[in-house]
Amino acid sequence: MSKWTLGIIGGSGLYEIDGLEDRREEQVETAWGKPSDALVRGRIGKVELVFLPRHGKGHRITPTDVPYRANIAALKAAGVTDILSISACGSLQEVYAPGEFVAADQFIDRTFARDKTFFGAGMVAHVSMAEPVCPRLSGLAADAAEAVGAKMHRGGTYLAMEGPQFSSLAESKLYRQWGCDVIGMTAMPEAKLAREAELPYAILCMVTDYDCWRAETEAVSVTNVLEIMGQNSALARKAVVELAERLSGTERTPDPNGTDTCLDYALITAPS
Ligand code: ADE
Repeated sequence: MSKWTLGIIGGSGLYEIDGLEDRREEQVETAWGKPSDALVRGRIGKVELVFLPRHGKGHRITPTDVPYRANIAALKAAGVTDILSISACGSLQEVYAPGEFVAADQFIDRTFARDKTFFGAGMVAHVSMAEPVCPRLSGLAADAAEAVGAKMHRGGTYLAMEGPQFSSLAESKLYRQWGCDVIGMTAMPEAKLAREAELPYAILCMVTDYDCWRAETEAVSVTNVLEIMGQNSALARKAVVELAERLSGTERTPDPNGTDTCLDYALITAPS
């Protein structure tokens, strides 16, 4: 029977997960360097979990400097089958209020100062990013979050910006015109690299603010992000436990979208 091994990447405000049996920390090194921190491994029921705080303990790594390739490579090497990212984000639409969760399913990547591929140096591959999020994992994560009391929105477009500064008003309005729903600084290139590593990826975005487009609300600041994060991270941690408990004892069948084997048709370089 094929088992689930869930990789959880925790963003701002999520530096630990609860309820891990047989908890242990592993310092690892990959061909792309060290990940953001030690991997925290453990079990909830029959599900293995591997947790990685994206910004490192104490939140010391900027969105630009997160070692995205090392993080995904470390999770892959740890035997992870699927990755759930949990990230703070700003809302670009009235309907997503601070405190609510969005299971985004599309991305617009406006980051520009990050390594975005495992390929290069003589080996070229083009994976599809048409559907960047695994609908199965996203649905299961949204169900779990809802079950523990989160107000959940399913689907939505996440604008990934470089940061670390927040957006200008003109940028925020532009992203709204583009039809974006939420904004954050870290889901890209994480989702692209997960796809290249043949790991189904889903994201639960915790809305912390209305960015700066909404006239009735003061523009996003670290203070309001932290305030909402404080209230929300307990809910996110509960959602992870709930998800693992729901998956425990179920068989992991191959990813319905074929992400487990997506490189089969993506490599373009002929073997030499
Ligand atoms: N993370 C949380 N709120 C954000 C915002 N408004 N813009 C970018 N990243 C964020």
